[in-house]
Amino acid sequence: MNFRKIVIAIDGYSACGKSSTAKEVSNILGYRYIDTGAMYRAVTLYFLDHHVAMTNPKEVARALQDIHITFKISTKNKSETYLNGLNVEKTIRTMRVSEMVSPVSTIKEVRVAMVEQQRRLGKERGVVMDGRDIGTVVFPQADLKVFMTADLLTRAFRRQRELLEKNQMVDLDDVVENILQRDKIDTTRKESPLRQADDALVLDTTHVTLEEQVDEVVRLALAKMIVL
Ligand code: DC
Repeated sequence: MNFRKIVIAIDGYSACGKSSTAKEVSNILGYRYIDTGAMYRAVTLYFLDHHVAMTNPKEVARALQDIHITFKISTKNKSETYLNGLNVEKTIRTMRVSEMVSPVSTIKEVRVAMVEQQRRLGKERGVVMDGRDIGTVVFPQADLKVFMTADLLTRAFRRQRELLEKNQMVDLDDVVENILQRDKIDTTRKESPLRQADDALVLDTTHVTLEEQVDEVVRLALAKMIVL
């Protein structure tokens, strides 16, 4: 049996399990995993640390030229994000960055720069990319598009547990507030807002375990990969 390399786009709301699912699927298929949210987070971290005036297009453009984002696989086989050569995987997940990442990702110049890099990273195919606009903007011709959803409380509990595992104590109220705020900005922004692609398959993960989510996406991917 022959298999071809495909592009898998996983989009959806914050904290629906997109990254965990995408990571596992890429491991199983031997594909490259690209966490596009991490790229927007790295830009946000740079803007915060360098006090970039986000409303000033010239300053934003200059800052973007100084931002180099790469991914490396850790010894634990995890994809980790590097900003200008520094491992920022932990820092980009803090609430300080989470609170600012949605506004930053509404900036047109930021999106143009990120989309260009994402297309380059996916050019060789054999890639699982997760984000908000992968199936609609970055790879509208993706072979498989999955749109993930889950109810609000489930998403908040999952995000809180994830942060706890990283020793970050946060109130559930604050997590809910942050998710609602990000949903609002992500779905209503002018530049490529979060929306389900017409040809995406919806995966509601509210009552589904991570293992089941992964199995489902792998099953869908294999059906697209087989060359008859
Ligand atoms: O997936 P995440 O929660 O780490 O993403 C962080 C933010 O980045 C999210 O609030 C919206 C933005 N984002 C985006 O606008 N487009 C993407 N392709 C990925 C993320």
